[in-house]
Amino acid sequence: MGKREAIHHSGKVAQVLGGERLKTPPIWLMRQAGRYLPEYRAVRAKVPGFLNLCFDSELASQVTLQPIERFDFDAAILFADILVVPHALGRKVEFVEGEGPRLEPIDNAGIAALKPGSPLETLSPIFETISLVRKQLDEKKTLIGFCGAPWTVATYMVAGQGTPAQAPARLMAAQSPQQFQILIDRLTEISADYLIEQFRAGADVVQIFDSWAGVLGENDFKRWCIDPTAAIVEKVRAAVPDAPIIGFPKGGGLMLERYVAETGVDGLSIDWTVPLDFARQQLSGQVAIQGNLDPLLLLSGGKALDRAIDHILEDLGDSRLIFNLGHGILPQTPIAHVERLVARVRQG
Ligand code: CP3
Repeated sequence: MGKREAIHHSGKVAQVLGGERLKTPPIWLMRQAGRYLPEYRAVRAKVPGFLNLCFDSELASQVTLQPIERFDFDAAILFADILVVPHALGRKVEFVEGEGPRLEPIDNAGIAALKPGSPLETLSPIFETISLVRKQLDEKKTLIGFCGAPWTVATYMVAGQGTPAQAPARLMAAQSPQQFQILIDRLTEISADYLIEQFRAGADVVQIFDSWAGVLGENDFKRWCIDPTAAIVEKVRAAVPDAPIIGFPKGGGLMLERYVAETGVDGLSIDWTVPLDFARQQLSGQVAIQGNLDPLLLLSGGKALDRAIDHILEDLGDSRLIFNLGHGILPQTPIAHVERLVARVRQG
């Protein structure tokens, strides 16, 4: 650590983040490696427990490459999960089939007992996945690494699972802000170190997923979403000076302008509720825009899907655009709809 490194950033997604506007926007999809793919389900069936797949570098690299082989997307995203970080911090993390993540909920005493330092050792198989993928991935494709934003990871650590508006974490932040700040600071530190190591292993770009940003009020959004993200961006750039970083503060709404101005991200991933005019007029001058097709429209297909794709291309095509969904692809999505999406975006 402490060394500043010039790292080459491959592919069109990195180009757009670096300031270029491409006539045909690059395309990839959040959660593109996953259960809607039969080849993913086949690999998944070989491994008992989802985390074991995340920590099996060989299988995780195969799964990372599957959607590129099938759809020729412009970017691969590392196959792992945002909850490997609490796992590395020594918290119990499990994934229950059909239900989602289950963690041992952390309380004030648990926060006080978190070990100091960055336990990156535990995460070394993930860096190995990245280097295996980078060796097999075409130089023209971008490899995207990622982490969860401190707020979103903390919500799962406190509640132990996803809840309708992550009230348990909001309650802890309201009742014990100093203790909650300690948790956020630990996550900020380890997430920055984790992303730096991802760049060193061969990631071209990273994305910070703040899937639960939208449940925060104005002051909390600043304190728990913007400030920790800005700290991560600063620390990563101190080690990797031109690190291309995408932020995804899902549900950020009227706080998106401040998020862009104050975090220093190069790209903003927007969900489908963000009006395209607003994205073009208020945001696209400052950052590359990634998004924002409703995953339900991709699932349902037909004319409504075509129209939604065309709207995005018409309204944001003159901006620095990375075509994507507004959130992860749904497991029930027909493969034919994904093929249709890629063809339509590329036909221009
Ligand atoms: O995008 C990709 O293809 C790369 C892999 C990836 C996964 N999770 C694999 C996964 C990424 C980038 C994530 C991020 C993630 N994980 C987020 C942020 C993005 C978002 O969707 O909001 C969050 C909140 C998580 C936590 C998580 N992991 C949840 C809530 C769940 C259960 C819900 C679900 O979709 O199953 C997971 C499990 C998970 N992560 C699966 C996959 C492929 C499904 C588990 C399985 O295959 O058995």
